[in-house]
Amino acid sequence: MEGALIARDRVGIQDFVLLDAHNSETAFLDNLKKRFTEDLIYTYIGTLLISVNPYKELDIYTKKQMDLYMGVNFFELPPHIYALADNVYHTMLSEANNNFILISGESGAGKTEASKKILQYYAVSCPSSTLLDTVRDRMLMSNPVLEAFGNAKTMKNDNSSRFGKYMDIQFDYAVGGHILSYLLEKSRVVHQNHGERNFHIFYQLVEGGEEDLLRHLGLEKDTKRYSYLVQGECSNVSSINDKNDWKTVKNALSVIDFDANDIEHLFGIIASVLHLGNVHFDGDTKGYATLNTNAALRWLLGIHVQVLHEALTFRKIEAKSEEVLSPFTVDHAIYARDALAKAIYGRAFTWLVNRINESLENKDSGRKTVIGLLDIYGFEVFSVNSFEQFCINYCNEKLQQLFIQLTLKAEQEEYEAEGIGWEPVQFFNNKIICDLVEEKHRGIISVLDEECMRPGDATDLTFLDKLEEKMGNHPHFVTYKLADKKTRKSLERGDFRLLHYAGEVTYCVVGFIDKNNDLLYKNIKDVMRLSKNPIIQQCFPATEGDSRRRPETVATQFKNSLLRLTEILTAKEAWYVRCLKSNDNKQPGKFDEVLVRHQVKYLGLMEHLRVRRAGFAYRRRYEVFLKRYKALCPATWPHWKGVPSDGVEKLVQHLGYQPDEYKMGKTKIFIRYARTLFATEDAFEICKHELAYIYVLFALLLFFFFCQHLATKIETCWRGVQARKERDRRAWAVKIIKQFIKGYITRREAKTTDNSEYLAFVRQSYLNRLKDNLPKTVLDKTTWLTPPPVMTETSEILRQLHTRMMVRKYVRGITPQKKAQLQQKVVTSGIFKGKKDSYPSSIAVPFVDTRISQYSLQKQQLILHPFYSVPVVKYDRNGFKPRPRQLILTQAAVYLVEEAKIKQRVDYVSLKGASLSNLGDSVMILHVALNDPKQKGDMILQCDHLFEALTKLAMIANKQNNIKVVQGSIKFEIQAGKEGGVDFSVGQEPMIYKGKNGHLMVVAPRIKSR
Ligand SMILES: Nc1ncnc2c1ncn2[C@@H]1O[C@H](COP(=O)(O)OP(=O)(O)OP(=O)(O)O)[C@@H](O)[C@H]1O
Ligand SMILES: [Mg+2]
Repeated sequence: MEGALIARDRVGIQDFVLLDAHNSETAFLDNLKKRFTEDLIYTYIGTLLISVNPYKELDIYTKKQMDLYMGVNFFELPPHIYALADNVYHTMLSEANNNFILISGESGAGKTEASKKILQYYAVSCPSSTLLDTVRDRMLMSNPVLEAFGNAKTMKNDNSSRFGKYMDIQFDYAVGGHILSYLLEKSRVVHQNHGERNFHIFYQLVEGGEEDLLRHLGLEKDTKRYSYLVQGECSNVSSINDKNDWKTVKNALSVIDFDANDIEHLFGIIASVLHLGNVHFDGDTKGYATLNTNAALRWLLGIHVQVLHEALTFRKIEAKSEEVLSPFTVDHAIYARDALAKAIYGRAFTWLVNRINESLENKDSGRKTVIGLLDIYGFEVFSVNSFEQFCINYCNEKLQQLFIQLTLKAEQEEYEAEGIGWEPVQFFNNKIICDLVEEKHRGIISVLDEECMRPGDATDLTFLDKLEEKMGNHPHFVTYKLADKKTRKSLERGDFRLLHYAGEVTYCVVGFIDKNNDLLYKNIKDVMRLSKNPIIQQCFPATEGDSRRRPETVATQFKNSLLRLTEILTAKEAWYVRCLKSNDNKQPGKFDEVLVRHQVKYLGLMEHLRVRRAGFAYRRRYEVFLKRYKALCPATWPHWKGVPSDGVEKLVQHLGYQPDEYKMGKTKIFIRYARTLFATEDAFEICKHELAYIYVLFALLLFFFFCQHLATKIETCWRGVQARKERDRRAWAVKIIKQFIKGYITRREAKTTDNSEYLAFVRQSYLNRLKDNLPKTVLDKTTWLTPPPVMTETSEILRQLHTRMMVRKYVRGITPQKKAQLQQKVVTSGIFKGKKDSYPSSIAVPFVDTRISQYSLQKQQLILHPFYSVPVVKYDRNGFKPRPRQLILTQAAVYLVEEAKIKQRVDYVSLKGASLSNLGDSVMILHVALNDPKQKGDMILQCDHLFEALTKLAMIANKQNNIKVVQGSIKFEIQAGKEGGVDFSVGQEPMIYKGKNGHLMVVAPRIKSR
């Protein structure tokens, strides 16, 4: 909690004991509102928890939240119902004592929800075993069952508990539970105000019950058919799903060990009540009640219809030794019918609670520590308050008395235990009001009982008279007759007003006598005993009728049960949850200040705060206090070596606490004013920031030293590892090198242990190198690595394999065109290889199909079908003038063409052959047979594609053997009988010119290889 002191401006304070203006109701409400606006519904007054109903689901009840609060110091986390539950549990464990949690508040404030949340917390947080789990499930499941039978929709709450509930949760080796119920509002069975419903179970059965079951019970699936269900005119409510709830209840009943018979009999009773409500009486001529039909009666608990008929229309009066039947008037019969319905339901409810208790019973006979949960109605003030409100408010008065006693006692005990003098606390003691209600012979209940029991015609008004007679002077009692003029204006004649500790409540006496008597005629009880329903037999035991004593009145029963409850609670340590309603419309987020103020008053919260604040606002164990604030004093920071109390003393002296501001107990420091604590907390806040800064510096420094130390350590280790590695590596290297040297020396010898490693290394290294240096083409014969002697043979095999592989690869990659080209190249090689200087450099140059495209020839409109064509330079036979021409080879002849003009045609049969020099020039002479007079003489041609043209010509004209490579000069025929000559030589520059000797001079370039 101390952690949240800093946020107090926004979220208010988490504990009202720290409220400076602790006497101011306005300050109190402001704080509640501030927190409520932030969805903080819980606030403490010391260990008392205030809970404000948010009317919306908050994400604060998860398993994660439960884990968060488990075993944590109460004040360390924000207020929560789980914190309280956990604290109670651990107090019980550590002190081995019994505890109880009193949950109170007005209808709809959230009591039942709070008690369920506590139960769920225990179910999850307490150690588990199979046995425990069973009881735990039963305990959780008892809730929906009891809510079905004991809760109803009212104007204030759609799930209003119409009974008080005290549940003991027994912890030890085994878990168990025990439930006590208080003052079930039975009148609801027969009457509901407008907008309200009967108990949930009736609607659940009719709406959700299975066809077979309903048929068996004689019920129809329509709540409107039952007069006990229609008076409030709201059988359907949007927030309630009766069908689903029916399933939940059926499942819960089976978990808490109800067998099929129990269930059948229990619902038989519920159905009987509904049928009973539908029994209508008519009046005969004398005004006596008659029953026209017995239809509804046959469904009533297996009792003979005629017997029932009589019991509902007659009263049996015992006069001396005989019994006389006295007929009922219609009103009387209705009264008797309703009394029976209420009695059946009320007793069945008690049976149900007992039956649940059997299933929760802890069979272990050893001593058990318990936590009690009391979910009981809070103070009720309506516009008209009746007998029920009187009982409820009396109950609250008693609980307030207990609460003051226990709180004061607890305070006093703590002061005593801590050795601090007790300072008397001013508070309002409500004993005077409790006495007014309950005192023997003199209290209101006694007067009421007397009036109920006395012979003669006692009425509500005679009761009021008696009250005025007896209480006339009491300062907390007033009636119209007793009041002064001013007060009278707010009172009716049939009212009495009590000045409760929480405020004034005016009660209307109408119905007090009847409700207190709760009369059920004896003959009706006798008839009930005839029932075949075993639950009814248990509810109406035979022994009951035997007693001549008058049964206790309702008020007395209630008073006695409250006394017993007080005894139960007094023996336990008390914890409180006070529930507040935030608004009357069940609206989320709305904080109705007037309504909350009213509840704060009625729940006595200011009173509680006053008691808690009378002495000291704040107390903490020395260790806890010192741990939080030690930084505020140089003597206690960073560590206090002595006992904690001395440290705290040093600390508070340093902070300048005045002697009246605090007291030192045995284990705790007590601080009187909240402002002292706030000042300390504020100082701590400032100091915390400085500390944080110092802390960061300190942490950095530490980190630096740590790193330095760590670095040295790591370096040392690293060096060690490296040194060891180096030593091993060297030893290994020495061994290997020695072996290597020996191997080298003996490398040419046969394989021995000395050289085997070396040779293996040599082999491997040669193969590795060879792999990266293989020849890339078939023609490459030079790059094969020279092998070491040991690999000579292997190397040769590998070389051949590799060559074969490359050849295969090459051959596979050859296309048909390429193949044809190669075949031509083979012919070329046959003719020119080793004969002409320019041949080697021509090998790599691929041949093409033709050098002049078909398209350009067509453009010249030549009507030849060339097989091959190539541009050439023709030298005139006389004068050797160069002329560009196209040489065209067809299937039959060779043509010299000048732009579509055939200059010379030589049929292959007339072609004698061709001559060319052995040098690097590109001149050829085609020799023509001149026996044909049309022929012009030999052709002297220069062609850049000499080998290609001659090879194509040799192949198409079949002249392979007629191509001569000549050294020196070549003779040619200018015309028949007239010869010319071409002289070939080698020079710096290639040239062709007419020589002085009348020959054509051809100078070929020098070729290096020559
Ligand atoms: N902590 C809570 N969170 C969310 N909703 C709540 C909480 N407490 C109560 N409510 C809402 O308020 C309704 C009434 O609560 P609950 O039945 O516990 O009131 P009650 O004090 O037991 O009233 P009664 O005296 O009539 O039995 C619940 O049905 C629920 O809708
Ligand atoms: Mg309730």
